[in-house]
Amino acid sequence: MNTTTSVHTASAPGKVILFGEHAVVYGQPAIAVPVTQVQATVTIAPAPPGSGLTLVAHDLGTRSSLSAAPEDEPLAAAARLALAHLSNPEPDATLTVTSTIPIASGLGSGTAVSTALARALAAFLGRRLDPAQVSALVFEVEKIHHGTPSGVDNTVVAYAQPVYFVRGCPVERLSVRIPFTLLIGDTGTRSSTRQAVERVQRGRQRNPARYDALFDQIGDVVIEARRAIESGDVDALGPLMDDNHELLIELGVSSRKLDDLVEAARFAGALGAKLSGAGRGGNMIALVEDDLVDQVAEALEEAGAARVIATQVTTTD
Ligand code: PMV
Repeated sequence: MNTTTSVHTASAPGKVILFGEHAVVYGQPAIAVPVTQVQATVTIAPAPPGSGLTLVAHDLGTRSSLSAAPEDEPLAAAARLALAHLSNPEPDATLTVTSTIPIASGLGSGTAVSTALARALAAFLGRRLDPAQVSALVFEVEKIHHGTPSGVDNTVVAYAQPVYFVRGCPVERLSVRIPFTLLIGDTGTRSSTRQAVERVQRGRQRNPARYDALFDQIGDVVIEARRAIESGDVDALGPLMDDNHELLIELGVSSRKLDDLVEAARFAGALGAKLSGAGRGGNMIALVEDDLVDQVAEALEEAGAARVIATQVTTTD
């Protein structure tokens, strides 16, 4: 067993899915990028011998001991899986989570917390996890909460790079030829990824041919988007986002509020817009030329966005 006396901190970014959500669960590709403007941070400090691991989430106002926490409590589940992966017994420590990522809104809040937790715990125990190990570990946590996650969220957050993701395939980093700006507009409505995924699953059970055709069309959009991003053809991306949004409406995962924000962004000059993530609430994204950022952000707020974040999509190394 490793023991330590120093404090360790790790952070992980939020994320948005640019293209391919839902269809990615059925084997189609998806493109996702980190959002560094929002972060989850986990700090671990030593505690007196015999005290075990205490989990504190300031934002949620919760404090619990690992040994007493229920099986499916998200923080405890992540900590138990990380300790099992590291073959380390429960340390005497206090683990504190803070996050600026809105919960249940498609920005990867839970994924980022699990990622930061795994890294901080490993560092506290004098170990290091590479992105592939962190991603695999967090995927196990996601399975507890989402049932059948594709793996795109844990991959993009662990690598903290734009990724082209296909379920079960090695991760491919995406090189962004010309950086571009996205506005992320929050509907303010929380959405359950599990329920949205189950909704699509039920639709597919009723009408497999129609849903599989929609997934194929989304896959084609993603492949086209990859080409545009890698070749710097930013103008092609807007219409592809619009196409993807229409296909997501057909899948039944948009909402009135999402459609209103998408429409408002386009009307104010965005090159394209779509919902992002599980849908039914959560966030939408809009591709915006730099000189129109303020104008489109204002239009999103006027249309009822609870929060608007601007982020630049770029390759960082
Ligand atoms: O709620 P989010 O943003 O984490 O969306 C998950 C993306 C889905 O494609 C809907 C599900 C998945 O596991 O890929």
